[in-house]
Amino acid sequence: MEINGIGVVGCGLMGSGIAEVCARAGYEVVVREVNDALLQKGLGRVQGSLAKAVARGKATQGQVDEALARVHGTLDLATFAKCDLVVEAAIENMSAKKEIFAALDDILPPHAILASNTSSLCVTEMASVTKRGDRILGIHFFNPVPIMPLIEFVRTILTSDETMEIAHQFGASLGKRMVTAKDTPGFIVNRLLIPYLLDAVGIYEDGLATREDIDTAVKLGLNHPMGPLTLLDFVGLDTTLFIADAMYEEFKDPRYAAPPLLRRMVLAGHLGRKSGKGFYDYG
Ligand code: 3HC
Repeated sequence: MEINGIGVVGCGLMGSGIAEVCARAGYEVVVREVNDALLQKGLGRVQGSLAKAVARGKATQGQVDEALARVHGTLDLATFAKCDLVVEAAIENMSAKKEIFAALDDILPPHAILASNTSSLCVTEMASVTKRGDRILGIHFFNPVPIMPLIEFVRTILTSDETMEIAHQFGASLGKRMVTAKDTPGFIVNRLLIPYLLDAVGIYEDGLATREDIDTAVKLGLNHPMGPLTLLDFVGLDTTLFIADAMYEEFKDPRYAAPPLLRRMVLAGHLGRKSGKGFYDYG
């Protein structure tokens, strides 16, 4: 199967990044948002990131102009009727995702592959509302999508070998490295990352060290690009809490139980960079 048209559902932080890397790889991309304000904001993010790629010498202005011309915004899922592959990167809410999957199952051509960028929800449950379980998988990108080299594939017990093969060809065409995990919450990366981030909040809450010292310890002692509290602000405290809760719900393992401070910060609207305040202030 040849992939020509790509659909991306959602033009938030992840959806806009996915649309950008697909367009840069030469695909025609349709990206859908729920209203025009969100769509324009998302497309603006794609433009900003492409401009940064030029400024950093990663692309020429000509390449960026061509990529931008390949990105088409829409408010209507029906525009995806000719897509060969759709990546859903909408809100992390199972009923919303099931609604999107059921609608796309009716709209997409029979050969099309439908993927979710979910970081923690059950891909099999999304497949269950479609008649194409063999053509459904998770394609989990990492933030910031244009820079992070990894894609994590999530293979359900329904996903066919052919779908996995096409997914690998697609990932390679984006220049990404790929790993495959079973459909359990957190897959590989978040299964390891979330307990570590929760522990960092716990030791900060216990007063073991300042936020700066916790981050410096990990940056310089483990050579990570960001300390855990900076990374929490970067990923979003609400996103992290959501993933932790999904993992705790499935495994009932205290390693995934969110510390009280994390839940309270989310309740207070301290979500990290996106809200201007998390463990640090972003003024
Ligand atoms: N397009 C293409 N390339 C770009 C670019 C763009 N828009 N913006 C920057 N770059 C390039 C730069 O030129 C540079 O390339 P070089 O290494 O060849 O010189 C490289 O990307 C790094 O750019 P910067 O210098 O601007 O950025 P930093 O060096 O400060 O790194 C960071 C920023 C990549 C965000 C780094 O801090 C990092 O890796 N942080 C950790 C991020 C992380 O862990 N992400 C995963 C989160 S978990 C997740 O997403 C899963 C979810 O389910 C929760």
